[in-house]
Amino acid sequence: MKQLHNLINLKKSRRKFISNLSSFAATVGFSSFFSSAQGQGFLEEFELKNHLSAEQLTEDEEFWRKIRSAYTISPTIINLNNGGVSPSPKVVQEAVEHYNRLANELPSFHLNRTINKGKETVRRKLAELAGCDTEEIAIHRNATESLENVIFGLTLKKGDEVVLSKYDYPSIISSWKQRALRDGIKLKWVDFEFPMEDKSKIVDAFAEKFSKKTKVVNITHMINWTGQILPVKEIAAAAKRKNITVLVDAAHTFCHLDFKIPDLNCDYLGTSLHKWLCAPFGTGMLFAKKDKIKDVYPLFGTAEPLSDDIRKFEHIGTRSTGVEQAIAHAIDFHQLIGIKRKSERLFYLKNYLLEGLANIPRITNKTSKRKDFGGAIAYFEIEGIENIHQVTSNLLHKHQIHTVGMVHENIKGVRATPNVYTLKSEIDRFIEVMEKEYK
Ligand SMILES: Cc1ncc(COP(=O)(O)O)c(C=O)c1O
Repeated sequence: MKQLHNLINLKKSRRKFISNLSSFAATVGFSSFFSSAQGQGFLEEFELKNHLSAEQLTEDEEFWRKIRSAYTISPTIINLNNGGVSPSPKVVQEAVEHYNRLANELPSFHLNRTINKGKETVRRKLAELAGCDTEEIAIHRNATESLENVIFGLTLKKGDEVVLSKYDYPSIISSWKQRALRDGIKLKWVDFEFPMEDKSKIVDAFAEKFSKKTKVVNITHMINWTGQILPVKEIAAAAKRKNITVLVDAAHTFCHLDFKIPDLNCDYLGTSLHKWLCAPFGTGMLFAKKDKIKDVYPLFGTAEPLSDDIRKFEHIGTRSTGVEQAIAHAIDFHQLIGIKRKSERLFYLKNYLLEGLANIPRITNKTSKRKDFGGAIAYFEIEGIENIHQVTSNLLHKHQIHTVGMVHENIKGVRATPNVYTLKSEIDRFIEVMEKEYK
């Protein structure tokens, strides 16, 4: 009986794989990757293992090695700085090159008419991924552009208060400070000690800053310095009770953690797509709840700034429409792996790395190993190190391992972040080097 059940599941999963694959193949008709031996190997591995659960595949190095073969990452430098920006798989790179070549044949025609025709499909695919309505998604060049549309576009008057944290992303902090300088709004700061594993304490840290004058709360879903996840849904619930607008910076969580935007109960959300979706460099996305679109003036002027058409946030002039179009190819690739498999693997690699460092006495982990509070980003401090950038420089130049030094407020340490193409053997190498150099 059990065998029959397994066989049925296998058949179902194979059908799903073939249907996923055919929609994938349709978008990569011009890709040379899938006609190469490597590409064929990638597809064979998928067909063989697609019925396996996320848990079953998490530690299957052969499977992840095949995923790696779809990228063009450096074979000589171990990349553990995937928090900043991620490389795109070959199919996405090839799509960008394809659209660029096409655009250069007749730019004013192809950029604005041929290629741009696909934009509504990209919007629909992003909305499906985000679990929201197509009319709630604007396509941007990065998270900064998305978030700043809201920061500078909401109507706020002198004396209104905005609650944010000292560990929000620097350019987001600068934007709020600029708004405060110009319009006389007041910023109220939440402070943290990392790691944090008590949701109610985090919610209280925000809630105690809320007053009758608070109009907006800015919540970073995953803090870039340390990888700390904040309980957005619960903070948003506390904010909503006081009629406070909720803006979420999800630059680090979209297509990294397994969630849908409506789960967060926010009004606005901005994210990069060149981080965890592995879309082309210079891609981002704004979510605005349908009934909240009209409340925000777009950053770039448009004929009807108070309309409730999400497209009013996209009037940025000439840009690479091919790069936007290639977002669709990144979505297809991401969905072929699947968010469950991806987030489980990332979480596993991060914890494997932290467990390996746990035996080094000078190293203190500052990242949660629990799913509610951490994802792929590991952040740790090293006793006796004054200049953390010397550590990352040593790792890169002497050992060919790319990490990043984090220095901000009470933060001074190393951030190491794997991605889907990271192999366990690379993390073993990193741990070995850290043991040798910083014991
Ligand atoms: C938390 C956070 N917000 C915003 C940004 C800005 O993202 P982008 O470069 O896509 O504008 C980053 C970039 O690393 C980030 O980590």
